[in-house]
Order: sequence, then C-alpha cells, then structure tokens
Amino acid sequence: MNTNPAWFYNEIQHSGVDYSDPAQVAVYDQRHEKFRDYEKTTAAVIQRLALGPEHTVIDIGAGTGAFALHIARRCKWVYAVDVSQAMLAYARQKAERAGLHNVSFCHGGFLSYEHTCEPADAIVSAAALHHLPDFWKQVGLRRLTAMLKPGGKFYLFDIVFPGDLDGYEARFDAWEQDIREKTNVEFAAEVATHIRDEYSTFDWVMEALLERAGFQIDAAEYGEGFGATYICTRP
Ligand SMILES: C[S@@+](CC[C@H](N)C(=O)[O-])C[C@H]1O[C@@H](n2cnc3c(N)ncnc32)[C@H](O)[C@@H]1O
Repeated sequence: MNTNPAWFYNEIQHSGVDYSDPAQVAVYDQRHEKFRDYEKTTAAVIQRLALGPEHTVIDIGAGTGAFALHIARRCKWVYAVDVSQAMLAYARQKAERAGLHNVSFCHGGFLSYEHTCEPADAIVSAAALHHLPDFWKQVGLRRLTAMLKPGGKFYLFDIVFPGDLDGYEARFDAWEQDIREKTNVEFAAEVATHIRDEYSTFDWVMEALLERAGFQIDAAEYGEGFGATYICTRP
C-alpha cells in the first residue's frame, strides 16, 4: 500500500519514455548497443571505482542490466534496482542466461529503494536520474549518500545540458539527427521526448546537487553531445 503523502513524486509513473512497457524493453538493448559500448564503459567504471571481488554495488535505474551484469562478473554482489518491473524481469532473464547468481533484482527507485543490507562499497547509475525533477533529484541523491560506506564511490552518467544556451536549438537538432542516423526514427523520437518531457538539468545544477547531497566530486567530465560522467566519493 502506498503510504506517501499526496505531494510525493510518483517515480513509478515517471514522465517521458515509458519503460514499464514490455515492448519498449524488448527493443532497448538493440537500440542502445548501436551507439553505446556497455562492455568498454563498464570496464572503465570498474577500474575507476577500483571495484574487486570483495565489493558490493548498487545499480540504480539498472534497466536491462547492462551495467549490473558486467559488474556482477567482477564483484561480490550487485543490487539491480529499477522502478520498471518489465526492465527487472528482462534483466533477471539475462542474468539467468549468463549464469550469474550474485545479483538481487529490487523493485524501487531513487525515492523508494530501501537498502536494508550493509552500506554498499559503490553505487552506479546510468541515464536514469533525469527522470526526476531537480527537487526530487536532490532528495534521491541524499538517499544514495546514506546507502554508501564512508569512502564509498558513486559513478553517475546522465544527459545534462550546458549552462551556455547560445545555439541550443541547433545543438538539439544535431543530437536528434545523429541518433536518427545511428539508429532509427523511433529512437530519434525518444530524443525529442527526452528534451521535451524529461528532466535533464544544467551541468552546474548537477554539480551543486551532488555536492549538497554530501558527495565530493572527484571528476566531472563533459564529452561530445550531452553525456556527462561524474565520479564521486562519500567522504
Ligand atoms: C534510459 S534507461 C537506463 C537503463 C540503464 N541504466 C542503461 O544505462 O542502459 C532509464 C531507466 O531508469 C529507470 N527509472 C526511471 N525513473 C527511475 C527512478 N526514479 N528510480 C530508478 N530508476 C528509474 C527506468 O525504468 C529505466 O529502466
């Protein structure tokens, strides 16, 4: 039973792309693998967070489990958390096929997941935090800080927008076109949905949110396009 007050953000019915739709989940990996190299990215995350066989990791907004399953091959235990039951079911099947038995699949999100076990050594989150408006991002990030051991690491990847708005229309058009060329028109439509309906914030807001949540930002990297990577430590 939902005991949240009426004003509480409903993260299960978030705006934007509907990841509770099994049809959406079925095409997710296929689309994303066209322009993301999960294996390479996860290998870099494992190295940068210095993760090893003794470590437990939470992947929040785990989706189809791309990060969670790669990390599970190197670490002791992974908690794959997502608000979408369809995503979790898909990720669980992938883990079974891969013979991985050290992943817990947990229904919940930034605002609702309760980590009742020992605090984790690391948290990773890729392309999920933008589903929350900024106020709720801050609430969620503060909750994550509390789930980490002191000295624990946080890897965050998300789409964030530059503070300099000059020429933003052309940059958004170019992003949409790039995705259309690399994938298809359906995925390009998701880019438009992302910009219009989801809550990617400014780079300077994201950095402030992380610091105010109690993280020390060890690296903030803004590459081509709108992808941003943050490596943080809970002091
Ligand atoms: C774009 S997918 C990213 C999945 C995966 N991390 C990846 O990089 O491929 C966004 C995921 O965030 C999940 N999500 C949306 N709102 C969330 C929330 N408040 N807490 C946790 N996960 C959320 C969605 O269900 C979806 O699986």
